[in-house]
Amino acid sequence: MCRNCNPFHLFSLVFIFVALFSCKPDTDHQVDVENPSVSSPNDVNQVNFNLTESGNLSFHVLHNGKEVVKPSQLAAFDFQDQPSFGTNLNITNATVAAVEDDWVMPWGEQRNVENRYNELTIHLEESEEPARKLLVKVRAFDDGIGFRYEFPAWNDVDSLIFMDEHTNFQITGDHTAWWIPGDWDIYEHLYNETLVSGIDAISKRDHPNLAQTYIPENAVNTPVTMRSDDGLHLSFHEADLTNFPGMTLKVDNQSLNLQSELVGSDKLGYKAKVALPFQTPWRTIQIADEAAELIESNMIVNLNDENKLGDVSWFSPMKYVGIWWEMHLGVSTWDMEATQDMNTFETLGKEQQSSKHGATTENTKRYIDFAAENGIGGVLVEGWNTGWDHWIGFEDREGVFDFVTPYDDYDIDEVTAYAEEKGVEIIMHHETSAAPRTYDQQKEEAYQLMQKHGMHSVKTGYVGKIIPKGEYHHGQWMVNHYHGVLEKAAEYKVAINAHEPIKATGKRRTYPNAISREGLRGQEFNAWATDGGNPPQHLPIVAFTRMLAGPIDFTPGAINIKLDPYKEDNQINTTLAQQLALYVVIYSPIQMACDLPENYTDQPAFQFIRDVGVDWEQSKVLEARVGDYVTIAREERDTGNWFVGGITDENARTASVDFSFLPEGEEFTAVLYQDADDAHWDDNPTAIEINEMAVTSETKVEIELAAGGGFAMSLLK
Ligand code: NOJ
Ligand code: CA
Repeated sequence: MCRNCNPFHLFSLVFIFVALFSCKPDTDHQVDVENPSVSSPNDVNQVNFNLTESGNLSFHVLHNGKEVVKPSQLAAFDFQDQPSFGTNLNITNATVAAVEDDWVMPWGEQRNVENRYNELTIHLEESEEPARKLLVKVRAFDDGIGFRYEFPAWNDVDSLIFMDEHTNFQITGDHTAWWIPGDWDIYEHLYNETLVSGIDAISKRDHPNLAQTYIPENAVNTPVTMRSDDGLHLSFHEADLTNFPGMTLKVDNQSLNLQSELVGSDKLGYKAKVALPFQTPWRTIQIADEAAELIESNMIVNLNDENKLGDVSWFSPMKYVGIWWEMHLGVSTWDMEATQDMNTFETLGKEQQSSKHGATTENTKRYIDFAAENGIGGVLVEGWNTGWDHWIGFEDREGVFDFVTPYDDYDIDEVTAYAEEKGVEIIMHHETSAAPRTYDQQKEEAYQLMQKHGMHSVKTGYVGKIIPKGEYHHGQWMVNHYHGVLEKAAEYKVAINAHEPIKATGKRRTYPNAISREGLRGQEFNAWATDGGNPPQHLPIVAFTRMLAGPIDFTPGAINIKLDPYKEDNQINTTLAQQLALYVVIYSPIQMACDLPENYTDQPAFQFIRDVGVDWEQSKVLEARVGDYVTIAREERDTGNWFVGGITDENARTASVDFSFLPEGEEFTAVLYQDADDAHWDDNPTAIEINEMAVTSETKVEIELAAGGGFAMSLLK
């Protein structure tokens, strides 16, 4: 709904009528062109602009009147074949409008989303010829700020080639930061906690478990989250990343300045090429007094356009199992030829031929039966198609994968018919081995095949260096590839869960078929990482960094924590209770139960995975401290059941859960899955206690979490 704050607001009916047709601010108010400024609806955040002596645009940000970003220059660019832009600017006009644009998530962390902000538009023009123009759009929300650059048509310029964008964020102190390096090719790094002065991305180069990694300089990827000495939280990111490269932030350890560094293309020799008019993604800062507010914020999705796909009821949020973990454990192989060793990703040669292929008709039916028996909606099948004997460790991966030809031992007609009969949906898998051109050639036919078999979601993958050489996963060319996949898939009612993706920037609002993605070190690293897997603090950091960007396909639910007898040197570094908690803590409309079906047999803890919801009416963050712990409660849509999950890092703790979020006067039967007294992520991870209790909105309980532990609670009506 839209309305402005001028005196006409009394005629709300008129505005409701207007709102049906437009969400643009309907009246702009002129503001001072010398010092344009905009405040959030509750005045807590304020962004002020001015021109420096040399005519550069500068901004600073206040939160409750206190500076949180010091004067920093922005709106400056270097181009190929075009003078740089950013100096000798005049502000020719500046207007502010108030906007309300509330909307409904087709599925999500909550149903109804408030989207309220004040928007400042600054019109810039060079004081000398060629007098080029630029608009800066700034939105001030109560939970942060965002701004983007809008390039209008320029005389005699059809397209612009960006060599660099110079957007600066001069922070106010040496904050504690949670960061991953500004890798142009992957986000699958462990998070680091250091002072900003101690950020050292270069030291993260060449991790042995990354099939592709390129960290050109001391920069971080976003979201990067910080906490100041006086407890203020900031998270820097971007929203609506469309037709532009991903932005990393270059860190100056001395001056504590962060500067945009766009991912480039060695092949093309520039960062981006766009036709005019053009608007960049939003550059964003979430600002929060409490860590919990970072997670509850909807600013990133709000900065995206409304749903372009219309009715998307063809996809339903679901839990899924799959032929997946067994390959990561080395129990079976993706390739029918069974020539590969999952522990080393090496191709061993044809002499290894055996019957270890995972994606057989028979094995898939076993998973379908298991899913049907346990109310699990989907079965992912990896390794069903030809090409897997040549997918990793080869330069010549173009044209190898085939997205329509099943292996001889996988009967796609039989499998999909069987699944349908059992009320289960097969989830398609398209590993591209980072050869996107091959995928682009075949994707339409591939989605037609899916449509024919009633499949509505696909997990995509991009393992390896991008072909053609010189392109990177996070560059403009790949951003456009991922976007093209979303659009083409939507035509065939297909939803995308991308692995090795571009980061989430809230585009799921516009393209709800962007259901989930990886884009972090997921569960799989626990099966084979040579550094021992994800340490216990990993997810208590992820919840306040990667998760602020959007849904995560983390694939929780391991019951066999020690991975015996498959993996001697690896294990999951959490307790079993924490694995359950992740279904609530991590948001995704698809949630895997990753373990082998046989490991769930006779496991009372599995009942939580059966019960837990995947689609939420509302979510509340009950307790939170970045990098240490988080507890989240979510109400399931349509049932009114609630689920609570809490996790901690390597430190044991007592969670205090106040159930005042429950509707008054109703009693729920709560089942609590908690770490046993002697539980510990390493020494005794599967020690779990399961207790039932009655809970109302008056109840308060204290729950002990073991080191690396957690708790999960179902509150069924
Ligand atoms: C990497 C993905 O993250 C993983 O989930 C998948 O099993 C492999 N690629 C194979 O596609
Ligand atoms: Ca991956």
